[in-house]
Amino acid sequence: MVSYKQIEASNALLNDATAPRVSVFVGGTSGIGQLTVRALVATGASLRIYLVGRKASEQRTRAFIQELRAVNPRADIVWTEAEVALLSDTKRVCEVIRTKEQRVDLLFLTAGYAPMGARRETEEGLEVAQSLEHYSRILFVRLLLPVLGAAAAPRVVSVLGGGLERASSVNVDDLDLKKPGNFTFIRAQTQYVAMHTLALERLAGENPDVTFVHSWPGSVNTGNVWRGLQGQDPNSWMAWFVWLVLEPVIRLVGLLSSSDEEAGPRHLFQSTSAAFGGRGVPWEGKPGVNSLGKPEDGLFLVNYKCDTTPNVKAMHVLREKALEKVWDHTQEVLRPYL
Ligand SMILES: NC(=O)c1ccc[n+]([C@@H]2O[C@H](COP(=O)([O-])OP(=O)(O)OC[C@H]3O[C@@H](n4cnc5c(N)ncnc54)[C@H](OP(=O)(O)O)[C@@H]3O)[C@@H](O)[C@H]2O)c1
Repeated sequence: MVSYKQIEASNALLNDATAPRVSVFVGGTSGIGQLTVRALVATGASLRIYLVGRKASEQRTRAFIQELRAVNPRADIVWTEAEVALLSDTKRVCEVIRTKEQRVDLLFLTAGYAPMGARRETEEGLEVAQSLEHYSRILFVRLLLPVLGAAAAPRVVSVLGGGLERASSVNVDDLDLKKPGNFTFIRAQTQYVAMHTLALERLAGENPDVTFVHSWPGSVNTGNVWRGLQGQDPNSWMAWFVWLVLEPVIRLVGLLSSSDEEAGPRHLFQSTSAAFGGRGVPWEGKPGVNSLGKPEDGLFLVNYKCDTTPNVKAMHVLREKALEKVWDHTQEVLRPYL
């Protein structure tokens, strides 16, 4: 485990020269994204952050931006509206950022929720949580790679479930879980996590100059568990289960492990420390190992203690059984937007 003291010491070294100069936060309007933006801005460094969010969240995000400007007047926060569950809008917003910026140092991805309710699809025919947590995130990476590649130490951090992949998590015959009976909360969550890791590992292999992190935040009480149930029957057994069991457990674990208060600084560390691949704020502790088990750059599966795991057994099976199919299918879904 990386101690919180080590996290604070590393983040204290962030300044104009070492902090990401230009960042794109997709999901920085709430939760872990917002906590990480707050920690980044609090460094006092001169930086620009694109806060990408949906229209419905603009008003409260503007208040958040005022707060950030008061903390750090040298932080240029650019509100950037987009409905990122839609791949067409993801493409549009990436084009906007690419016309404004020659380089992006950090792409930080958190949009998504636990798909606990009934299956809901976007107008593009994708399950909403899968689009947010996998397809849209991979599209952001693909479309911003040209500007990420221009940065000195570019990094992509995607917050979901890195390290939680299981050998049996991917149904290669139904990658979008469209067949009757296949879409359940557990199957969807585990499948999206594994698909995302496989695609990120592939991208990391193809882009050795970019550091990739797939983070599992543990249990942070952001209200995320309720999002999948929005607009659905508040008296369903799932709603009662979340209210009576899941949310109290999340709150308790968050309190006991300090993950609520530490989440922002820990994700800032994951976004900037050389512990992951050697580029970034110097790190004298044990170097993290990538998903291939090597202490060198690539994809890092990082947990809430900032430990890395190659998740060897599960990843070995998933590479053999699912990698090509997941990659080909993801390419097929994204092709109209590339
Ligand atoms: N919190 C945890 O303990 C935990 C644990 C494991 C995994 N995760 C996963 O990690 C990621 C980040 O978690 P979090 O707790 O920070 O999440 P969060 O605060 O609940 O939400 C993160 C972002 O997702 C956006 N979002 C949610 N539904 C959306 C939709 N339908 N369309 C567009 N944007 C939408 C939110 O935008 P708005 O601000 O506009 O609502 C917000 O910016 C999520 O994928 C979550 O499932 C979280």
